[in-house]
Amino acid sequence: MKDSVIVCRCEDVTAKDVKAAIVKGAHTPNDIKRLTRCGSGVCQAKICSDLMVEIIHEKTGKPYRDIGIHRPRMPIRPVVLSTLLTGGDAGENI
Ligand code: FES
Repeated sequence: MKDSVIVCRCEDVTAKDVKAAIVKGAHTPNDIKRLTRCGSGVCQAKICSDLMVEIIHEKTGKPYRDIGIHRPRMPIRPVVLSTLLTGGDAGENI
């Protein structure tokens, strides 16, 4: 994959950034997230995770099944703070 490819558009992370994280020892999507914030944006790795896995496979030779998946964090979609405070329905505010 070309270095200039945008992996996470929300956090402005390129393939070059992900490859640099792999060189530093990040060999899972969660490790890469910790080092680059890739997957921390609005999509919560629904889109960028596949690219991260592809780059890990390409750079380390690890089989896809051994790379693992991105650990989802709550909330899985944007929620306004007032919804969290009141315990309201998140769907009604977005
Ligand atoms: S593209 Fe940014 S979190 Fe997935």
